[in-house]
This record gives sequence, C-alpha cells and structure tokens, in this order.
Amino acid sequence: MMQWKANWICPEKDMGDICPVFQKTWDGGKNTVKAELCITALGVYEARLNGFRVGEYVLAPGWTAYEKRLQYQKYDVTSLLKSKNELCVTVGKGWYSSSMPGWMMTEDRVRRMGRHTGLLCELHVTYEDGTVEIIATDDTWSCAQSQVRFSEIYDGEIYDASFIPENREKVCSFDGPWDILIPQEGEEIREMERIQAKSVFVTPAGELVVDFGQEVTGYVEFTVDAKAGDRVKILHGEVLDQQDNFYNANYRSAKAEIIYTCKEGKQTWHPMLTFFGFRYLKLEEFPGEFPESILPEQFTAIVVYSRMKQTGSLRCSDAGLNQLFSNIFWGQKGNFLDVPTDCPQRDERLGWTGDAQVFIKAASYNYDTQRFYKKWLRDLAADQRVDGSVGQVIPDYLPEGAPSAAWGDAATICPWQIYLTYGDKEVLSGQFDSMKKWVDYITGATKDTYLWTGGEHFGDWLGLDAPVGSYKGSSREDFIASAFYAYSTKLVIKAGNVLGEDVASYEKLYENILNTFRSTYPKYETQTEYILAVWFELAEDLQKSADELAEMIKSDGCQMRTGFVGTPYILHVLSRYGHTELAYTLLMRKEYPSWLYAVDKGATTIWEHWDGIMENGEFWSTDMNSFNHYAYGAVADWVYEEAAGIRVTEDAPGFEKLYIEPKADKRLEWLEASIDTRNGLVKSRWTWQEDGLKYEITTPVNARIVIGGRETEVGPGRYTFWG
Ligand code: BGC
Repeated sequence: MMQWKANWICPEKDMGDICPVFQKTWDGGKNTVKAELCITALGVYEARLNGFRVGEYVLAPGWTAYEKRLQYQKYDVTSLLKSKNELCVTVGKGWYSSSMPGWMMTEDRVRRMGRHTGLLCELHVTYEDGTVEIIATDDTWSCAQSQVRFSEIYDGEIYDASFIPENREKVCSFDGPWDILIPQEGEEIREMERIQAKSVFVTPAGELVVDFGQEVTGYVEFTVDAKAGDRVKILHGEVLDQQDNFYNANYRSAKAEIIYTCKEGKQTWHPMLTFFGFRYLKLEEFPGEFPESILPEQFTAIVVYSRMKQTGSLRCSDAGLNQLFSNIFWGQKGNFLDVPTDCPQRDERLGWTGDAQVFIKAASYNYDTQRFYKKWLRDLAADQRVDGSVGQVIPDYLPEGAPSAAWGDAATICPWQIYLTYGDKEVLSGQFDSMKKWVDYITGATKDTYLWTGGEHFGDWLGLDAPVGSYKGSSREDFIASAFYAYSTKLVIKAGNVLGEDVASYEKLYENILNTFRSTYPKYETQTEYILAVWFELAEDLQKSADELAEMIKSDGCQMRTGFVGTPYILHVLSRYGHTELAYTLLMRKEYPSWLYAVDKGATTIWEHWDGIMENGEFWSTDMNSFNHYAYGAVADWVYEEAAGIRVTEDAPGFEKLYIEPKADKRLEWLEASIDTRNGLVKSRWTWQEDGLKYEITTPVNARIVIGGRETEVGPGRYTFWG
C-alpha cells in the first residue's frame, strides 16, 4: 500500500458550483531523472503541468464504490518538468457529488450531492544525485475559481473562457479517505475516436441542428471565431422527432447542456469534466451568421470510453444485419465509461446489474473487457449489502432499491463469463464469496424454501407480452426468480469446482431447487418461461420444451414476446435444439418487433424498446425511451456462437481449445466472425457457392469442428470444409 505524504485539500472558502483549480509552483533547479505524479480526487480531475495535460485519462479517477474503493493514478511526467514549475488541477463533481439518480430524490442522493470535492496528489521527483523531492498537496497550495463555472454528470458544463482565474485563495486540509485508496484497476477512460459533423441544418421549427450521423458518448469539440462575451449554448439529442425537429424530452431531468462564454478571437473548446450521449446538437446560441456561416467542420464529436481493445468482428452479406452489428459495437462503446451503464444520456447512466449480466457475453467477445469487468465486480462485492443482497445498480446509488432476480444475479453470471472468455481463475477466486453470498441471500429471503418467491422484481423487464400500462412482461416473477436462483446456485457450484472449494452444500441445495422448481412449475406459460426452463436446464425434457417454445413462437406469428430476461437466450435455445431456421427468422425479421426494425428506422445504436419509434412515427414514451441501451445487443453472442459457431466451452476456458459448429442459413450468402482470444485469433466464415456450402475456419489451437453433424478434430491451422 502506498504511504501518502500528501493531505486531502479543498478550498477554504466554498465555491459553490464553480470548480476549483488547485495550484502549486516550485523551482526545479537540479537535473531530474524521473518524475511521477500520484493523484486522485473526490470528484473528477484534470491535471496540467506547465500547461500540458497530464496523461490522457478523461474523468479520472473513474467511478468506483467511492466509500469503499477509490482509485488513484500514477503518471510519468518527467518530460513535462522545467526549471520553474506550475501544477494546476481542476476538480469537478463527477459521479461523486452529481445529482444521481435523477428521477427521485432519495436520502442517499441528498447525502451524496452534499459531499464536497477534494484533491490528493503528490509528485515524486528523483534527481540525478539520487535525492527525491516530494511535492504533495498541503496548506501551501492555493486555489482559485476555474473557468469551469459548473460541471455535473447529467446537466453538463458551463465554461467561461473570458474569465481569468486570478485571486489566489487558501486551501485547507481535511480528513479524506486513506484506507480505501487503491491503484488504478480498470481501463482508463480515454478520447478514443473523433467524428466530424455530417451536416448542419435548420429544422422545420427553425432550430439550428448539427448531425454527426452516429450516436456516440463523449462531447463535442467546436471551433468558433467570436468576440469576448459571445455565448454558445448547446443541447444534446439522440433522434429527431416525427416532424424532423430537435428532440430530447427522453433525457428526462438531465439538462445535458453546454453553456460557453467566448474569449476574443478564434477558439476551440470541448467540455472537460462531464459527458453526453448524443447524435444531434441543437445550437441554441452560436456566434456567426445564422445559419449560412456555421459549418460542419466546426464540430467534432469526441468519442469517450474505457480503453478496451476490439477483439471481435461480425460481418455478413446482409446490409441490415451489418448495421445491427455496428449498432451493437457502438452501444457497447457508448455505455462502457468505466462502469457498464444502461444508457449514456438521460438522468440514469447507472451500472444497472441486470443490463450488465445480459450483455456481458457479447461484450467480452466484442472487446477485451477483462480489466473493465473485474474492477466493476470488485465494486459489486464491495457494495454488496450485509444480508448478501446485490443492489439494482453498482456502484449502489439506489441503496433503498430491492434486490431483483436477474439483476442481482450479475454477482454470479458476470464472474463466470469473464472466467470463460478469458480463462481468468482469479476473477472467480476474487468473487467467490460474493457469489455465495448472493445465493445465500436468496435462500434466506424467499417465502418458500427452494424457490425464490416474494420480494420485488423487475420481472421480464420490457417484455413484449406486458399487460397494458406495465413495464414488466407476463412471465411469472416467482418463476423467473426461482429459475435464476437455480442458475446462480449452479454457477457457484461450477466456480467452486474450478477453485477446488467444497460446494457439497450447494450441490444439495441445487438438487432441492431443481426438484421443487419442477414440481411447482410443470407448465410454462410464456416464451420467456420456456426459454429459462430450457436454457437453465430446469425442464425435465429439454428437447420437448424447446420444441414447444418453437411452436409457441410460430403461433405468435414468428415473433418474440420477450423482454430483458428472455431475449438474450431465445435464439440460443432455438438453434441448440434444432430450430436454427426459426432463430434466423427472428434475427432477420424486419417488422416490429425485431432487431432490424430499429435498423430500418435509422438506429445507429441499440434501443431500449423494440419500438422506441413506433410504426406510426411517434415515440414509445418520453419517460423510458433510450436510444442507446445495449441490452438487446446481446444477440451478438448468438451470432458468434451459433451462426459462426465459435463457442467457448467450460472444459476449455479462455478458448484454450475450440469448439466450432457453424450454423448457416440460406437467406444469407455468407457470414463471418472472428475473436481475438487469449489463445490467438479464431475465424469462421461460411459462404454459399455453386457447388455447396463452403466453411473456412482458422483456429490457433486444437479444435473440434462440427459441420453438418460430422465431427473432426484438428490442430492449429486454416481449414476448408464443404457441407
Ligand atoms: C434502466 C434499465 C434497468 C431498469 C430496471 C431502467 O430505468 O434504464 O435498463 O435495468 O430500469 O428496471
């Protein structure tokens, strides 16, 4: 553990909403060999040494369960030091004291909003003569009001470029957190991509709007030639309304607004301590001749997300599906800002546990997410409540929220998936206690032994079979909860077996749950009930139940009736039990409800609702209508595992050995997928050709390849098969 010399500091005189900039100057003098800055904040910080930005981490120190874990960062700043030095650090509220969640004023929210921000940092300078000087935050630092007049996660940023920070004010030390400081664990959040605006246009309502052609998360950088005191005011939006006017009522209470006061001359600026989810900008105020002289070149969307390497790729002969794949990748980028969030725009942007477990498999194939999830899972464990229950969101900004089935199960499902995808046993050993606690919590909380009955749940959230006026599908809540209870118990057993732990009591428990489940629920009433019964292997006759599910889907008009809980598994259940054609029918369906419906409506990310924009062009609602919600993007894992056939198996975690069983469909000319696994790059492609179906497979390790029911064992290499 690092021994800090520094003190936590804050402005002696409270600055209200204005972000303080802390400052320290000193003479260098001697020859420096190395200089390292260790720094963190309560809030988010941006540090500059002699005018240069320190590191590239945006919104550092990231978002953790702040009361239990706070990351600090180390930057090598040797090249930035001079003979006279100035270190300036601006600190904003960030996730630490913003008004999250936005839709209800809870006691905990009031408490968090009242927390004051602070800074802790020390610079270790090693000189040529071997001496080390430490410049650490203490009462000798000063502070001033910065040009950031306001900054908050939901509401955006107010910046005054014409303001010159001058009056140096005193700082004071305070008793900040020490024992919870940890070195950076997750991926750094970075500016990862830049997108030029596609167009600037005037809407029928006369609004000046900028379109980037892609929904992203991050912020806009704009350039403007202005007079000191001119104002820029920008609102963010995801979609245009039915009349092609600017729309962002679905951001709910999040203002998502930039107000910028110009200095004299040409200037380029972007927000510093916040972020937005957007495709469109409404320029409420912008210097220049309206609208002719305002050009797309003046606006660049800076795309900000956790620095994850892309590892997966999906392509096929259908343009609509390719757009869907693109939307899934963009949905992931837009919601992987240190914490896996539901959405990046409205007054949520929270680490909803259900959404995270639904999407984790696809996410872990698309990108290298090992570090990202491991850090978040430690927060999950840290925020696990004394009774073992897991909150609805992690970090737990809804401590009063009841633990829900399929949400809290992130505690077992996520570590297991990270273990499978990356072969990482450490994640299992690190989370094993947390996994058990979650199962034990259910055991203690249920009304009926060996099931999970009672409690408050989200059910099959947003299920298409929801009764009018409800967000929850028609599947029985107790059924879903009990099915997940069984599944989580099974995962505890599996994890225990990997770790060599004694899981005898969980094995007994599992047997009892299975028997009780079977006798309590001999019949399944909805698509999602069938899906869970088969996928979690609870049904007595899996094939029969899968066949019945297929029949039910057909009699429902070959369409899904599922929500967050059933959708991720529906295609898997179908294709694993001989209904591949029906799985493709659902995947390729264009009419509502379907994945391609949103694509047809121009989606560039995954929508929260199948009909975020309804067939008549109206919005589903304003209160729950995100256009960047990754959950249904989970379908990507089916494309990797079933369509392309690249599957990770329990006996070969980390793709140590491959199992490849592609399943083609006539409605596509070709499809290909690849995953850059921990053991090398695996590729699978099939193409319909005149003389039959050609399969091309590249495996970096030994593989079992199944084509048309015929199994072949191969070593590393490139293979062609005909089917
Ligand atoms: C979020 C969801 C989340 C749900 C829980 C919503 O407000 O956006 O994605 O899982 O609440 O019911």
